[in-house]
Amino acid sequence: TVLYAVIGDPIRHSKSPLMLNRAFAEAGINGVYTAFHVKKEQLGDFVAGVRAMGVRGVNVTIPHKLDIMPHLDRIDESSRAIGAVNTIVNDDGVLTGYNTDGLGYVRSLKEEVEPELAGKRIVVLGAGGAARGVLYALTKERPGAITVVNRTLAKAEALARDLAPYGTVAAADSGALARLCADADIVINTTSVGMHPSTDEVPLDAGWLRPGAVASDLIYNPMVTRFLREAEQRGCRIHGGLGMFVYQGALAFEYWTGRPAPVAAMREVVLRAFT
Ligand code: ATR
Repeated sequence: TVLYAVIGDPIRHSKSPLMLNRAFAEAGINGVYTAFHVKKEQLGDFVAGVRAMGVRGVNVTIPHKLDIMPHLDRIDESSRAIGAVNTIVNDDGVLTGYNTDGLGYVRSLKEEVEPELAGKRIVVLGAGGAARGVLYALTKERPGAITVVNRTLAKAEALARDLAPYGTVAAADSGALARLCADADIVINTTSVGMHPSTDEVPLDAGWLRPGAVASDLIYNPMVTRFLREAEQRGCRIHGGLGMFVYQGALAFEYWTGRPAPVAAMREVVLRAFT
């Protein structure tokens, strides 16, 4: 039996064990995936345990994505660019940190709504940790333009500067949002505006979007935010945040096993857990 784990603080709410154990069963892999409540001061002991017990893979969730990094042997480009690790691969005692959050988001976007991102004009609203992962992954797709828009312009500018080694990202403040949306093929909300319990709020006016454009929201609680509902009424194609969770786990599965993830089964079990 090959061992896998997810760590966080808190961890009780995590749907990852459900999703990954389903994936192992579906793929006929003899793996067991468990959640551990690990406190910040226990991270070193936890990693020593991973080495001692030969745990093959670990997912890392809030609040440990940064603090885990010094305990690892190697940091993949995805984690270096984003400054956070959500997936560890243990190759015979050599631990490598990856970040599959943004890459998972982009794979979800491509699989679920827009297969071709090359040449597309993309607007990303928000300049926090979630935006950083999404922007990093978008730079890999040869889009026509990426603009990060934030209430606090300085944060958008800093993010664009940090990502310059990977691709060109322009920065703008919220005042430019209406004009940028009118010209965009894809508009992505990475802020928490519209998340439960403030489901009446919208991060931007869907009336600014072109009918036919893609409106995407990282929020999955609710599954369809008010922003997405209004964008759909306007004639946009919509994309919610659940796929990001499914595909960040699918990528981790693929890094650990070298096999394609059984995405449909993973999505089904998560969807059932959330509804
Ligand atoms: P996460 O890790 O989820 O991205 P974060 O790093 O705290 O969270 O970033 C939150 C992002 O949402 C920021 O870009 C923030 O804007 P500021 O940098 O101006 O604070 C944005 N955000 C949060 N609440 C917002 C609101 N009510 N209106 C506009 N932007 C908001």
